[in-house]
Amino acid sequence: MKVALLGGGTVGSQVARLLDVSRDDLTQRVGQPLELVGVAVRDLKKDRPGIDPSLLTDDPVELVKRDDVDVVIEVMGGIEPARTLMLEAFAHGASVVSANKALLASHGAELAAAADAAGVDLLYEASVAGAIPLLRPLRDSLSGDNVKRVLGIVNGTTNYILTKMDEEGAAYQDALDEAQRLGYAEADPSADVEGYDAAAKAAIIATLAFHTRVTLADVHCEGITSVTAQQVAAAKRTGFVVKLLAVAELLPDRAGVVVRVHPAMVPRTHPLASVRDAFNAVFVEAESAGDVMFYGRGAGGQPTASAVLGDVVAAARNKVTGGRATSQPTYAALPIRPVAEARTRYTVLINVADKPGVLAAIAAAFAENEVSIQTVRQDTQPEGGAALLVRTHLAVERDLSVTVETLRALDVVDEVVGVMRVEGEEGA
Ligand code: NAP
Ligand code: HSE
Repeated sequence: MKVALLGGGTVGSQVARLLDVSRDDLTQRVGQPLELVGVAVRDLKKDRPGIDPSLLTDDPVELVKRDDVDVVIEVMGGIEPARTLMLEAFAHGASVVSANKALLASHGAELAAAADAAGVDLLYEASVAGAIPLLRPLRDSLSGDNVKRVLGIVNGTTNYILTKMDEEGAAYQDALDEAQRLGYAEADPSADVEGYDAAAKAAIIATLAFHTRVTLADVHCEGITSVTAQQVAAAKRTGFVVKLLAVAELLPDRAGVVVRVHPAMVPRTHPLASVRDAFNAVFVEAESAGDVMFYGRGAGGQPTASAVLGDVVAAARNKVTGGRATSQPTYAALPIRPVAEARTRYTVLINVADKPGVLAAIAAAFAENEVSIQTVRQDTQPEGGAALLVRTHLAVERDLSVTVETLRALDVVDEVVGVMRVEGEEGA
């Protein structure tokens, strides 16, 4: 069974190492030996401990055009040339294993169709939540159930940064530098901190969960770049922790699907609050199963290589037996609805004048836009005026946005300092 590797970086080097050290076990599990026949990289001069130098090539096209290659592993990242190389691999009869969420979230339909046409596998467990077996359980184990909502921490880099800010008061840039050094971040770390990496993963999860094609462009995306040390500290004081969450949910009566990625306050008592460092966790709420939680290492070379190898074994076994993995049914084709239709809770921090009638005016702004207030906390500011922290019950995002605009127009409001969603609380 011949295997070609596209990429010999953080993940690829670990895939090559595991193929070597686990050779005998993998042979038993597949039913035939797996032979690594080439590793495509950009720079042939780089030192790559653990990779046989005679396997290195800077010509990935030549590798995927080989008719004797059974499985191509794509861990080079980016859209092109990865997309063209994968299409070429399918055309030459190879199955493809990929960790490339950016590509799968934008060109998943095209790639799945090409794999179907060629009668080979396209597997990508490592693309979402690193080592955690999540996509196969969603695609296979939960295929007899109806998923209603998925809520998760799916980006290791941002979870690492937020954990360091929360627990050690670390500066944002120092924590990001460390996450890069540890191999968690994308080649361009703005994909992590701006939320695009989590949004790509959310699109892949939603497609499988709701049998509906969801692409990166369908996902509402806010990253952590505007989360301040003050917000993290304020959340901590009030029993919350700030997390970057991916939320994919069905609207009532299956009216559509909303998929969003944004920072949110999570109660410290919620299991997601204790997901630290580069770990990931995903909650799946299904009609019959109830809540199912997946937890583990969400980033890093070796954990990700574990998920890649699992897919390689599955694809190679299918080559041996002549079978194929379950495809990705998108028969439901539910409408993708805008984030304005999502329902969640919010905290709104407002600087106001400290004088009679202010609270009444603020409360009226919420009430006239159908947003119900749960609690209000007022702190007198040393420099004059007051800071109001308003927490709402469940509200529709569109109503909350209009409320914020209304607040901004009030004479008694100096500034709406921040709005943050609250996830993981029970009740209305
Ligand atoms: P990386 O360290 O930057 O490695 C990328 C590798 O691909 C490098 O060896 C690079 O060659 C090679 N490469 C890139 N473009 C190429 C081209 N045009 N031709 C030939 N070789 C090329 O990235 P990584 O962290 O391993 O990530 C790889 C993929 O896995 C990405 O899709 C990423 O999103 C995904 N992923 C990463 C993690 C993680 O924790 N790192 C986790 C899950 C999924 P050079 O070495 O010569 O530059
Ligand atoms: N950059 C990604 C993360 C790698 O930090 O989660 C894992 O997909």
